[in-house]
Amino acid sequence: MVIAVDGPAASGKGTIARALARHFDLPHMDTGMLYRAVALTLFRFGGDPASAFEALRACDGVAQVDPTDPDLRSEIVGSIASRISAYPDVRAALLDRQRHFASRSSGAVLDGRDIGTVIVPDARAKLFVTASPEVRAQRRLAELVGRGGTAHLEDVLIDIRARDARDSGRAAAPLAQAVDADLLDTSDLSVDEAVAAAIRLVAQRIGATANG
Ligand code: CDP
Ligand code: CDP
Repeated sequence: MVIAVDGPAASGKGTIARALARHFDLPHMDTGMLYRAVALTLFRFGGDPASAFEALRACDGVAQVDPTDPDLRSEIVGSIASRISAYPDVRAALLDRQRHFASRSSGAVLDGRDIGTVIVPDARAKLFVTASPEVRAQRRLAELVGRGGTAHLEDVLIDIRARDARDSGRAAAPLAQAVDADLLDTSDLSVDEAVAAAIRLVAQRIGATANG
């Protein structure tokens, strides 16, 4: 059983995917981390995100990146990730890793941008998690502040909008709701409410009760 969770930056898809994995006792992969690992490798080599060739070379470094490295979460790395993820060769280089994870006999939860559309088009349950850009910018800012950083809401909002435009506008696997995905708008939901709604939607899809 595969659960696909897609959506834009800071929509809450990671939080929801982790909670679904716990609830349904499935392993979870945050596929954004793969693109962030490529971006961090490129950044540390001083590579140019405008070069598809250099970005592809950085894919070789993914396995060496420490998944707990706090730099992976930084805004600059997120922004580079959204640029290099537009290259078809980079997406192709990361495809097997994701499909392999999704094919585990236990089933799996994957979250990203193209899980329901490209990586696992036949997933049992698909969620497209969204929230208004303003709400998402506020969430991102709260995270930044929580990590001891500072930023202006307007700048975070500009970055969120730029990332939305890049992720949705690219030719290769653009961010889009799969036709058979359930839409979950978390703009006015607390984390607990969003998680409960996600569990209900997935349970309906897989024919289980929301309690387990
Ligand atoms: O956490 P946030 O939503 O800000 O970003 P992320 O999920 O860590 O992804 C960072 C960037 O990687 C995104 O802006 C996408 O451009 C790219 N990405 C992608 O293209 N496909 C995926 N399956 C996951 C991420
Ligand atoms: O993975 P993605 O970038 O879509 O978002 P996230 O990392 O799961 O969530 C971004 C932030 O929004 C986290 O700090 C969450 O606690 C918060 N949040 C949420 O995820 N869902 C809500 N309904 C409200 C807040």
